[in-house]
Amino acid sequence: MAASDAASTALTATSPHRGYLSVILLVLVPSALVALAMSTLYFVMLPAMPFLRDYYFEQQEQTYATYVVPLLGHIGAGTIALACGPVNLVNALRNGYTRTHRYVGAVYAVAVAISATCAIFMSFHAYPGIIPGGRLIVTSGFCTLGILWLGTLMMALRGILIRHDIVAHRFWIITNFSLTFAAVVIRAENGAIIAADQFDRLYPWLGWVSWVPCPIVGSLLARRVNRRRRGRVPV
Ligand code: HEM
Repeated sequence: MAASDAASTALTATSPHRGYLSVILLVLVPSALVALAMSTLYFVMLPAMPFLRDYYFEQQEQTYATYVVPLLGHIGAGTIALACGPVNLVNALRNGYTRTHRYVGAVYAVAVAISATCAIFMSFHAYPGIIPGGRLIVTSGFCTLGILWLGTLMMALRGILIRHDIVAHRFWIITNFSLTFAAVVIRAENGAIIAADQFDRLYPWLGWVSWVPCPIVGSLLARRVNRRRRGRVPV
């Protein structure tokens, strides 16, 4: 291979555009679809057509009617987090739009703080299914996720606002968004257990299975991004 070909192959392999495209296809599109679907369902369809409650997650109808503020606070703010997170990932990859990045980042941080606090509360009222220990399984899972969601946000904010450490900020905010992305994973898993007619038996396990892989993949990706971007101008 000629030297110029080798150089161009190496350049393509590490090109930010490839990362940019993968973020759009694998993260931005699914996140936007789930954010749109959930906000339409809870803020448009269910209020306009209350009879739908008899079909959609009817097991939690009474619970959701009782805890409407934390539930809608969680879903509304979660939707904003799911929509804002990928915008900033794309911005960061493009190495520009600093002011937009900060503005969108602030909205994301407030949204995660609200949604996670409501989620921790809702974890004590999540559907326990019909299996022994279902309450402990589902509550411990969602509660741990909520605490980690808040904890990684704190670490990301501490990294940039107090320590001015862009590497730490990048690591923790990518890990944090991987936890936000659990909202996408759970929709896919939920569809699978409904299709397999195992919803009442398997739902409590989603409290754990929906998110444990996310920070593992997220933190590995964060390390990789940090390795690649070492030496470049920070966002
Ligand atoms: C990542 C941290 C999150 C935690 C800890 C969490 C936790 C919870 C809990 C405990 C419930 C009640 C489940 C039940 O009734 O059985 C719930 C419901 C819900 N969450 Fe989250 N959640 C998170 C992220 C998100 C995000 C980012 C969204 C944005 C779309 C979201 C949307 C919803 C919706 C729509 C429901 C109602 C149940 C449904 O329709 O499936 N969640 N969440």
